[in-house]
Amino acid sequence: MSVQEYDVLIIGSGAAGLTLALNLPSHARICVLSKSELENGSTWFAQGGVAAVLDDNDSIDAHIKDTLVAGAELSRPDSVNHTISGSKAGIDWLVEQGVPFTQESESYHLTKEGGHSHRRIIHADDATGRAIEETLIERTSKKENIDLREHHIAIDLITRRKLHLPSNACVGAYVLNASTGHVEVFKAHNVILATGGASKAYLYTSNPDGATGDGIAMAWRAGCRVANLEFNQFHPTCLFHPQAKSFLISEAVRGEGGILKLPDGTRFMPNFDSRAELAPRDIVARTIDHEMKRLGCECVYLDISHRPADFIRSHFPTIYERCLSYGIDITREPIPVVPAAHYTCGGVMTNLAGQTDLKGLYAIGETSFTGLHGANRLASNSLLECIVYGRSAAEAISASLGSLEPLPEVPSWDESQVTDSDEDVIIAHNWEELRRFMWDYVGIVRTNKRLQRAQHRITLLQQEITEYYSNYKVSRDLIELRNLTTVAELIVRSAMLRKESRGLHYTLDYPELAPERQDTILAPINYPWPDASR
Ligand code: FAD
Ligand code: SIN
Repeated sequence: MSVQEYDVLIIGSGAAGLTLALNLPSHARICVLSKSELENGSTWFAQGGVAAVLDDNDSIDAHIKDTLVAGAELSRPDSVNHTISGSKAGIDWLVEQGVPFTQESESYHLTKEGGHSHRRIIHADDATGRAIEETLIERTSKKENIDLREHHIAIDLITRRKLHLPSNACVGAYVLNASTGHVEVFKAHNVILATGGASKAYLYTSNPDGATGDGIAMAWRAGCRVANLEFNQFHPTCLFHPQAKSFLISEAVRGEGGILKLPDGTRFMPNFDSRAELAPRDIVARTIDHEMKRLGCECVYLDISHRPADFIRSHFPTIYERCLSYGIDITREPIPVVPAAHYTCGGVMTNLAGQTDLKGLYAIGETSFTGLHGANRLASNSLLECIVYGRSAAEAISASLGSLEPLPEVPSWDESQVTDSDEDVIIAHNWEELRRFMWDYVGIVRTNKRLQRAQHRITLLQQEITEYYSNYKVSRDLIELRNLTTVAELIVRSAMLRKESRGLHYTLDYPELAPERQDTILAPINYPWPDASR
């Protein structure tokens, strides 16, 4: 059996994981895992940019206010303050790493997105995530103390409690090496979940294939609390085209004047919100959904063609080229768009240093629930959260590296009873089924009845997955299906507990706001154990 030991094991190589790795001291032995190629998380696909207070006319107070308003007043003030106060230092650090943000004369160009009262989105054209990811990969690959492991899929966390040892803590993870097909043991004094979100739980999503909520499910199984998972954000404008899988049309297109239109060319957003196309995302997505259902149309249209063609091509080169490849010239015609699942606002509960309930376990980036986003994330606050919390977690971990105790012996993964599966078809079918009923029943508009139906189907799927899991060799598809089903269950349970409509959670059974603001916190059956770390 292969056993590897590190000071820090980072599961995930997106903006959050790589920021953390680069902010740890160079004497720390670090391993970063990625379930496929390093760049294959959501970070790479981020378009709009990073929200930050960088302009003298803007203020931290204004950014805080916009975050709280977009979050339907549910955000946690300590997290909002921590993140936004750290925004300038986070951007300065990215610039130091070499991220090529778009410049305009002497300063950086700042664009605008929905819910922001100022231009405050720093960006690299319309491919900001790619610029950040490329830069951070280049920097980490030069560090001798960081091992980067592609095609390594974490299956489950290893805890002292699971090993029947006293004083619970996370001490590593079982990891499937997809190149060899073997499960390896990675022991570590600090384990970080930086595995991104869970929007793959929905049939239509802007996210890449790996967004299956692995970190949330692993933390839950290890005994950590999760919060606010009912708030899955739907981005209003994904390209509607049969060949375009998951291609986003950035909110910055609306920020620079793009207008939403019905198929007959009528503008509709001003009838629903005075902020029109730049209302927060939950409102725009819900309005589009409403209009599509009312008219029975397959999509609406986003039109930027009234802006000069040179402006469009220079500000949105990626979107322009991609749409052109499908025969849509956005300098001349409107873009067909639909909402799609985009961002997981809830996640594994952490404090301001990214520490979870379990000693030695951290969660950062989209996997975490820090309290920043409340009931709806403000555009471009996500990459910011990855950078700020990646740096805060690095600070806390660095402080702990001096006093490390020996790690316990860990048994190898038991595969003695399993056979190779010839039932891949069933696993693929279960995936499809789950994502379809989540879209139909737990999507933009919910009801008690729809949630109950989803819950019923999830219970059946869980029974089937338990059977595959104990009989078949683990594969990436099976690991992801198991995790997606767990996260779907947590989303539905959270949605059932919220008896109001707030932010992204809209239910016909409780259309009003409840008088009290409350996070939806789910605790595993065995929580709290006597020495829970928070
Ligand atoms: P990710 O970048 O998703 O990385 C997850 C990592 O975890 C990957 O390396 C993956 O391989 C790894 N992983 C997952 N599970 C496992 C496992 N079991 N074992 C091993 N490794 C695992 N936000 C903004 O602020 N501004 C934007 O402009 C913006 N645009 C966006 C556009 C698109 C199309 C999308 C999809 C998202 C956008 N977002 C934007 C959201 C933002 O990009 C993400 O929230 C953020 O990048 C998440 O970063 P992360 O580091 O948490 O995770
Ligand atoms: C976008 O470019 O519209 C995405 C921004 C975000 O998700 O924050």
